[in-house]
Amino acid sequence: MAHESTYPVLDGHKILLNFARGTTSWPLSSYLQRGGYSTSKAVLVGKKYTPGELIDVVKASGLRGRGGAGFPTGLKWSFLPRGATDPVQLVVNADESEPGTFKDRVVMEENPHVLLEGCVLACYAIGSDSCYIYIRGEYVPAIKRMVAAVEEAYAAGHLGSDIYGSGFTCNITVHSGAGAYICGEETGLIESLEGKKGQPRIKPPFPAVKGVFGYPTIVNNVESIAAVTYIAHAGADGYRAWGTERSAGTKLFSVSGPVKRPGVYEVPMGYPFKDLLEVECGGMLDGVGLKALIVGGSSVPIVTGETALTINMDYESCEEHKTLLGSGGVIVIGEGTCMVRTLMTLLRFYHHESCGQCTPCREGTGWIERIVTRIENGEGNPGDIDELYRIADNMELRTICTLADAAAWPTKSFINVFRSEFEAHVQARACPYHNQFPDHLNLRGGGVPQRHADPEHAFIA
Ligand SMILES: Cc1cc2nc3c(=O)[nH]c(=O)nc-3n(C[C@H](O)[C@H](O)[C@H](O)COP(=O)(O)O)c2cc1C
Ligand code: SF4
Repeated sequence: MAHESTYPVLDGHKILLNFARGTTSWPLSSYLQRGGYSTSKAVLVGKKYTPGELIDVVKASGLRGRGGAGFPTGLKWSFLPRGATDPVQLVVNADESEPGTFKDRVVMEENPHVLLEGCVLACYAIGSDSCYIYIRGEYVPAIKRMVAAVEEAYAAGHLGSDIYGSGFTCNITVHSGAGAYICGEETGLIESLEGKKGQPRIKPPFPAVKGVFGYPTIVNNVESIAAVTYIAHAGADGYRAWGTERSAGTKLFSVSGPVKRPGVYEVPMGYPFKDLLEVECGGMLDGVGLKALIVGGSSVPIVTGETALTINMDYESCEEHKTLLGSGGVIVIGEGTCMVRTLMTLLRFYHHESCGQCTPCREGTGWIERIVTRIENGEGNPGDIDELYRIADNMELRTICTLADAAAWPTKSFINVFRSEFEAHVQARACPYHNQFPDHLNLRGGGVPQRHADPEHAFIA
């Protein structure tokens, strides 16, 4: 019998993916048919909100940053120095490099104008006339779509000087990165945008005080800024109609792994994982059991399949289950997968992507990768598991940015949750799973170690 959702689904009222899958949703003409740019007109010309009122609406909406940390967006905007004479900058973080995460790409490819309208509204609220959209270099189709959308919007007067005769100016520059995970960290991104090596800065000063080119800067994720369009349209209560008290609105989840329909889905916050798996994704592939789940991108703690089925997709429920919602990169792991090998694959990524400035990260990511590799290869020593845990523990909270923590958290949680598998490797002096990592199952949709999401498998519900 088909599993029916136990939660009210958006059912035609999607906020970011408000179009039918497979339709030509990205041109300006299509966006206008869906009511596009009516909100920016209402705000800029109709004076629906003053800039301060719009910040208050975003605060009241409960929108939390969708890049991973979940910091309240309106609150971040209010950190800009008052009365500053330097030009404020908006930077949209479209680096999207966290393994398992491929949701921003779908917004940019399928609904680019909702992001551009969000940029205009956010710039208006924070008093900026210039915005950069920093897109990871491998996202060539997204870069092309965004460049085309910016050109269309300029030509039709939705961007540029004196928009709709309102006196408000907003210029947007699309910037392509070069494919480094660390350029998704906001200060690494800023360095890269300035033409330097993408290495994070020590904070403070925070970007809101001294960001790109030394100017006050707001950095927000694609999904956060795109959501501002709906919030400005429907108001705080309209947005809060979806989700929970502390996790308002809708969220995009990119689901990969051995499920029938991997892809990107927009559901209300608080949606049960069980429903996401069974209803949106059509369940696990026939004959494959659910072994484990990484809820929010590869940095967050792993949970068992059993635990996963009791999680609701919101900040509170994830914390209650000792994990994090992160960026919403849902990695489903099937029965038969070797967890030591899975961790080894993740750690290879973090070691490779460390920018090298901090010793605990530069050296630590290499150490833990080497130890896990030797355990997987049947060359582990009895003390290796505790050593691995100790090194990971010592990497936490000691570095300029949280890449070191992003490698340490999964390491500690893999040991906490699947310690017996590590022990079995050491005792047998071999991988009991015969080094099994069923790539053809676990990589469906752009999962664990794959950095280039497979276009065939990214789709919209
Ligand atoms: C190593 C690392 C990589 C990150 N990668 C991304 C990314 O690809 N996209 C993103 O939006 N945020 C990323 N972040 C978080 C950003 O630093 C920042 O918090 C975010 O862009 C803020 O936007 P938000 O408040 O809208 O979430 C990363 C952080 C770290 C430490
Ligand atoms: S934690 Fe790692 S990635 Fe972050 S600044 Fe230090 S060395 Fe670079």
